[in-house]
Amino acid sequence: TKQKLWGGRFTGKTDPLMHAFNQSLKYDQRMHDADIRGSIAYAKALTKVGILTAEEEVEMVKGLEIVGKEWADGVFVPQEDDEDIHTANERRLGELIGSLSGKLHTGRSRNDQVATDMRLWLLDQLQDIEQGLRGLLSVLVERADKEVDYLLPGYTHLQRGQPIRWAHFLLSHASSFKCDLERLHQLKPRISVLPLGSGPLAGNPFLVDREFLRKELGFDSIAENSMWGVGDRDFIVEFMMWASLTMTHISRLAEDLIIYSTAEFGFVSLSDAYSTGSSIMPQKKNPDSLELLRGKSGRIFGNMAGFVMTLKGLPSTYNKDLQEDKEPLFDSVDNISASLKIAEGVIATLDVHSDKMRNALTVDVLATDLAEYLVRKGMPFRETHHISGRAVALAESRGSQLNDLTIEDFKKLNPLFEADVADVFNFDTSVERRDAIGGTSRRMVQRQVSILRDFLKN
Ligand code: ARG
Repeated sequence: TKQKLWGGRFTGKTDPLMHAFNQSLKYDQRMHDADIRGSIAYAKALTKVGILTAEEEVEMVKGLEIVGKEWADGVFVPQEDDEDIHTANERRLGELIGSLSGKLHTGRSRNDQVATDMRLWLLDQLQDIEQGLRGLLSVLVERADKEVDYLLPGYTHLQRGQPIRWAHFLLSHASSFKCDLERLHQLKPRISVLPLGSGPLAGNPFLVDREFLRKELGFDSIAENSMWGVGDRDFIVEFMMWASLTMTHISRLAEDLIIYSTAEFGFVSLSDAYSTGSSIMPQKKNPDSLELLRGKSGRIFGNMAGFVMTLKGLPSTYNKDLQEDKEPLFDSVDNISASLKIAEGVIATLDVHSDKMRNALTVDVLATDLAEYLVRKGMPFRETHHISGRAVALAESRGSQLNDLTIEDFKKLNPLFEADVADVFNFDTSVERRDAIGGTSRRMVQRQVSILRDFLKN
C-alpha cells in the first residue's frame, strides 16, 4: 500500500473527512510553477554542497521540468494522496526519475518550501497588478487632459459647494491611485525575501548556499532568521491591506460615478459594455460594474481581516493554520486584478455630459466667491461670510438667484459692494481664481496632469 510522505511513524489510517480537510492541492496547485522553480534552484544548491552529483542534478532538473510542463500543459494527473502542490510534485518526480527524487528534500522542509512558493507566486502577480493600476491611473489622467474645460459643482456632504473642473475631480481620484502605486513599490522588498534554506525551523544543516538560492530565484534579500522565515506571513497581510486600501479608492470612485449616472444628476452614462439591464423593468440600465467594484471592496477587506484573525494567536514558526493564507490571498489577487481592469474600462468608455454638469451649476455655489469679493475690498473674511449669507437668504426669500439681486440690494447689505460685483457671478472666473498649487484652475489642473504623466514614466 502507498505510504504518505510523512507516513513512517504512523500505523493508523487518516480519516477520509480529515484527508479532504487537510488537502490544499485544489487551490495551491496555482503555485505549480513557483514550486518547480524553487525545487530546481534547490537541486542546484544541493549539488554545490555535494549531496547530488552533477549527473544527478541534470537528471533531477530534467524531471522537474517535465513535471512543470505537465502542469503548464494541463495534463498533470493528481492522485488521491497528493496532499498539496509540494507532495504532488515530489510524488510525480519520483515516478519519472525513481529513488533519486528522494534526495531533493534533503535539509528542506515544506515549511521553507511553501513560504518560498508563496512569495515567488505573489511577486509574479505584482507585475500584472501594477500594470492594471497604471492603466487605471493613466486613463484618468488622459481624460482629465482632454476634458479640462468641463465645469460642474464640486460637492461636500453631497451638497453643491463650489464650481470645479471635471478634470480636477478625475485627478482627485488619480491622486489616491498614485499613492497606491507608491505603496505597492514600497511593499515589494518585504515580499522579496528568501525563506528557502531555513529548513523546518532551525536552519539548513547541509550549508546550502543561500546567496546562490537568492540569486537563482531573483529575491532581493534572504530571511536572516530561519524561525521567522518559515513563520512569517506578514507579507501576505501587508499585500491584502494594500489591496483593501486600493479597493477602497476604487469603491469611492465607483460611488461617485453611480451617483453621477442617475437621471437626477445625469453627468455621465456608462457604456453598454459595463452596464446590465433589468429582468423586469425594460427601461433600466444599471451600473453593475460600479456596484460590483464597490461590493468587492468589502470582500477584499474581509480576506485581510479574516487572515489577521488566523495569525494573531499562533505560536512561533509553522502551524497548519498557515495553510489558510492561500485562499484569501488568491481571492484578493484575482479580484483586485479584475477590478483594476474593469475600473479602467469603465472610465475609458464613460460618456460624459458636460451640458448637464454645467446646468447643475447654480449661482449659489458662488456665495464663497461673493464673500471673497468683499475680502478683496479689505473686510475680514468672517464678516464677509455673514454678509454673503444674508445675500443668499434675501435671494431665497424672493425665490430668485443671487445674481438677480440689484446693485441697490447689495449696497444695502454693505456699502463696499460696487457695480463690479456682477463679475463675481461667473463660474469660469471662479475656477480660474483657484490658481494656487492644488487648485482647480486650468493651469493647476495641467500641472497635475504633467506631474502624473512624469510619475507614470518611471
Ligand atoms: N500545504 C502546506 C501549507 O500550505 C504546506 C506546508 C506543510 N507543512 C507542514 N509542516 N505540514 O501550509
